[in-house]
Amino acid sequence: MPELWETVAPETAPWDTWRSHPALQQPTYPDEAEVRAVTADLRSRPPLVFAGEVDDLRADLAAAGRGEAFVLTGGDCAETFVESTADHLRLKIQTLLQMAVVLTYGASLPVVKIGRIAGQYAKPRSSDMETRGEVVLPSYRGDAVNSHEFTAEARTPDPHRLMETYQHAAASLNLIRAFTKGGYADLRLVHHWNRGFTQNPAYSRYESLAEEIHRAVKFMEAAGADFDSLREVDLYSSHEALLLEYESAMTRIDSRTGDPYDTSGHFLWVGERTRDLDGAHIELLSRVRNPIGVKLGPGSSPQDVVALMDRLNPEGEPGRLTFITRMGAGRIRELLPPLLEAVKADGRPVTWTTDPMHGNTITSSTGYKTRSFETVMDEVRGFFEAHDQVGTVPGGIHVELTGDDVTEVIGGSEQLDESSLEERYETLVDPRLNHQQSLEMAFQVAELLR
Ligand code: TRP
Ligand code: MN
Repeated sequence: MPELWETVAPETAPWDTWRSHPALQQPTYPDEAEVRAVTADLRSRPPLVFAGEVDDLRADLAAAGRGEAFVLTGGDCAETFVESTADHLRLKIQTLLQMAVVLTYGASLPVVKIGRIAGQYAKPRSSDMETRGEVVLPSYRGDAVNSHEFTAEARTPDPHRLMETYQHAAASLNLIRAFTKGGYADLRLVHHWNRGFTQNPAYSRYESLAEEIHRAVKFMEAAGADFDSLREVDLYSSHEALLLEYESAMTRIDSRTGDPYDTSGHFLWVGERTRDLDGAHIELLSRVRNPIGVKLGPGSSPQDVVALMDRLNPEGEPGRLTFITRMGAGRIRELLPPLLEAVKADGRPVTWTTDPMHGNTITSSTGYKTRSFETVMDEVRGFFEAHDQVGTVPGGIHVELTGDDVTEVIGGSEQLDESSLEERYETLVDPRLNHQQSLEMAFQVAELLR
């Protein structure tokens, strides 16, 4: 009896106002009743992240906005359930720790470490349907929605995947907490994180830096310094807040303050495709206390940017709002300065980070969706130049990477060329920096920060 469901008031939570706003990029589930059953179940589950951690991250992001820290965000374009194994997660965490140490040491700045990890299972798509020959099926929207295999069954959106998303995120976060708080991230293991990676040019550079850090730590130890801060790291979890049913079902009221927090991750961002001011995504995120990111592509105007600040951070709370720009290497030097000027004139604080990946996707002559390391680095340099010109703060980078030795991005010190792409091209959506390209980027960004 579908009418019965219609008459039942959907949700009564204060953040459910998004339901009366246009919602783009949502899956069409065959059975609404199942969606309700799964989200009711999700609402009863323990939160994945905690309000105090989210508040700490907001403070860290505020520091990055002032130039007192630098944000490193990295991880998969799309996490998948089959790859949320201990090995894949460990290699990704190891890569992030190595990049963080290169940046911290190289730039003498605290690094705010954020993974696109433990929740990045949903993807916006340019088309609702995918056609292969005669067959038309729903597009793959990430493991949180459907399965990649091109069959009607696999591609039908399944709300039970929202519960699987929760479970994979929970298990991944558990592993992250063990790695970051249980001794593995101890700076005295700086050499150790390089083990198991194949020899490459970035490797020996890392080894000599690790040797310097090792000596510095030994020196401090000999001098009697206190080492508690060297033992652990905070690695925050982030993803694109795309699936509104999931994000709203994971929102909880913090008992200390009475404020709503989206407990599916510490940091949540809205993509370029879903950031319309009156849309459901902005509406939901305007109601939660988490630090929020918004992707800004080449079509963003200074007015858009100020309107987003009015909508998401009217009071100008430091650390609340991060803009993640993705302009393309060829255009960032022309397109970013006017946005920076507008925000500077407004006066409310924003943390600026660069996503140098998404504006620089190309198709290789061999038919692979790829990116060139040199072009990606050129966008990072353009980002620094634009901030330098306007007198604003380049607060961080946001990149797609994996700890595996894949061949998805061309260039870098190993000089991957188009013909290497076929060797280990594993991504289901966008091409990622591999382990050595990630390290290489950290070394180059550290130079820019000096
Ligand atoms: N806790 C400090 C930090 O997060 C130092 C630290 C310990 C560290 N282990 C690390 C830094 C691993 C980078 C990578 O900055
Ligand atoms: Mn991507």
